[in-house]
Amino acid sequence: MHRWRVLSGFLFILLANLFKTYNPTVVRNAVNNVSESLCNVGSAVNGKDYLLGQLAITLLIFLGTYIAVALLEGLFTFLMRQTIIVVSRLMEYDIKNDMYNHYQQLDLAFYRKNNTGDLMNRITEDVSRVRMFIGPSLMYSANLVCMFVLCTAAMIHVNWKLALFVLIPMPFLSLLIYMLNNRINKGSEELQAKLSDITTNAQESYSGIRVIQAYVQEKAMLGFFGKESDEYKRLSMNLAKIESVYFPLITLLVGMSISIIVYVGGIYVGDGKITLGNIAEFIMYLNMLTFPVSALGWAVSLTQRAAVSMERIDHFMDVRPTVLNEQGITQDLKGSIEFRNVDFIYPDTGIHALKNVSFRIPQGQRWAIVGRTGSGKTTLADLTVRMYDATKGEVLIDGINIRDWNTGHLRHQMGLVPQDVFLFSETIKDNINFGAVSSTLERAVRYAEHASIHEEIKQFPQGYDTVVGERGVTLSGGQKQRISIARALAKDPSILILDDCLSAVDAHTERRIEGNLDKVLAGKTSMIITHRIFSLMRFDRILVIDQGAIAESGTHDELLALRGIYAELYERQAATETATEAS
Ligand SMILES: Nc1ncnc2c1ncn2[C@@H]1O[C@H](COP(=O)(O)OP(=O)(O)OP(=O)(O)O)[C@@H](O)[C@H]1O
Ligand SMILES: [Mg+2]
Repeated sequence: MHRWRVLSGFLFILLANLFKTYNPTVVRNAVNNVSESLCNVGSAVNGKDYLLGQLAITLLIFLGTYIAVALLEGLFTFLMRQTIIVVSRLMEYDIKNDMYNHYQQLDLAFYRKNNTGDLMNRITEDVSRVRMFIGPSLMYSANLVCMFVLCTAAMIHVNWKLALFVLIPMPFLSLLIYMLNNRINKGSEELQAKLSDITTNAQESYSGIRVIQAYVQEKAMLGFFGKESDEYKRLSMNLAKIESVYFPLITLLVGMSISIIVYVGGIYVGDGKITLGNIAEFIMYLNMLTFPVSALGWAVSLTQRAAVSMERIDHFMDVRPTVLNEQGITQDLKGSIEFRNVDFIYPDTGIHALKNVSFRIPQGQRWAIVGRTGSGKTTLADLTVRMYDATKGEVLIDGINIRDWNTGHLRHQMGLVPQDVFLFSETIKDNINFGAVSSTLERAVRYAEHASIHEEIKQFPQGYDTVVGERGVTLSGGQKQRISIARALAKDPSILILDDCLSAVDAHTERRIEGNLDKVLAGKTSMIITHRIFSLMRFDRILVIDQGAIAESGTHDELLALRGIYAELYERQAATETATEAS
């Protein structure tokens, strides 16, 4: 907990202010002392030199005190910033970690609904606004209260009327800064939004450069970019104009206040109500109050923004994962999969993706799931690894309802090769060993061989240490797919699900992989989802999915004899294959 840090921070604020508000008193005494001594010197007949010498010594003492007090004030101000700003950074760190952990627990449905930019914004921008509130905003507010009380007390003690002249302009100053700040914040937000538009635009033109060049759209893209840039320029000029009146305005107000103090104070000195030193003292108080009072306007607008951000953060933190982990059975997986009258409707779009699906894959069997695009195959795979829960019916793994398993435990023993391959910007070795207990090269090589990618990896100059992705080598679609297969195999799972994992490889490579996989998959339960019909692999059974429902089911020969969807797919494929081989 940061309670002690915050408490000591406030203590430092108090000490810093005590020393700060003490210095005007030193100055007042010094000024009074000098004016008195000078009077004495003027009226003295002899011993002038002695008196002047005395004055010099007194002044030196005042100077020493002033410096000592200022140093102490500086020390405590430093400690104050150190503790409070550090606390705010620590809290920022805590919130970020909490959010990251929370994000990790949320299910696919959440990620489908919220875009990445929004997630990133909340974890960076919003958290930093909250930090600004906890840190600077809180610190300056506490500082202001402290300083205000001490200064006001000191001034009223001297002369309450003159104190009023100092205090009356303050609320106006604060309000003015507040209004200016809001304008500036609004302006910079617009600017930020425009900047992110420009960045997205630029990013898209870079990553989509092949499409842009192929369609000869460079000019159009440039024109679009230019328009956005002009808008950005206009907004930043506006902002600069507002910002440029900021300090002159403060100086103007303060200058007017000082003139009033000198004028009114001068009259009071004439009347003998206050001393010359008091005027010097008051001007110092005024200068001292200016910064915190203007910071108040700033702090208020920071607080408002932080409140909005906190709300946005809370909104995400309150999202509960819909896939819950209640029972948490953690026994070893044998590997049978069963769907019982499963219906699935996507919560965000209402698309009815699976309709009354029932089947049972016994342990150790290899099934193919075949179907046209959009028929619901990936949905079936997602339900098997519990990315979503079935809307109706139940999914059972080893005869136990999937909701009763500990999800993490279950997923550890399942291998999924998703349709949209994702590799991390890491080395090939680490990508293959991702999620495995040990990360050795031998391991990576073994599974790369199983996935028929070893030979190609060997060709890269850095071999298995080749970095994948933006910073490294660009792999072909088929290479990525096979590394993704190696990654799933490396977990040595009891259940393996391959979602359309050979769509990007040529027929020749496909046959090689089929042969390899045939051996690797022996003894495992596997679900192989595909558009194409793998002729080399033996399947225990083939399910044909159509529009979310099971249309046909049986062995290859049975399905061909049925002369339905499967037979049609098979014939079409055979026809294209002979066509390509002939050409
Ligand atoms: N995240 C999602 N949110 C809403 N609807 C979805 C989502 N994913 C898929 N769908 C819809 O569910 C249906 C089944 O999609 P699914 O991805 O399971 O098909 P598929 O058989 O895997 O197709 P393909 O062979 O093209 O990969 C489609 O109509 C699709 O539009
Ligand atoms: Mg799919």
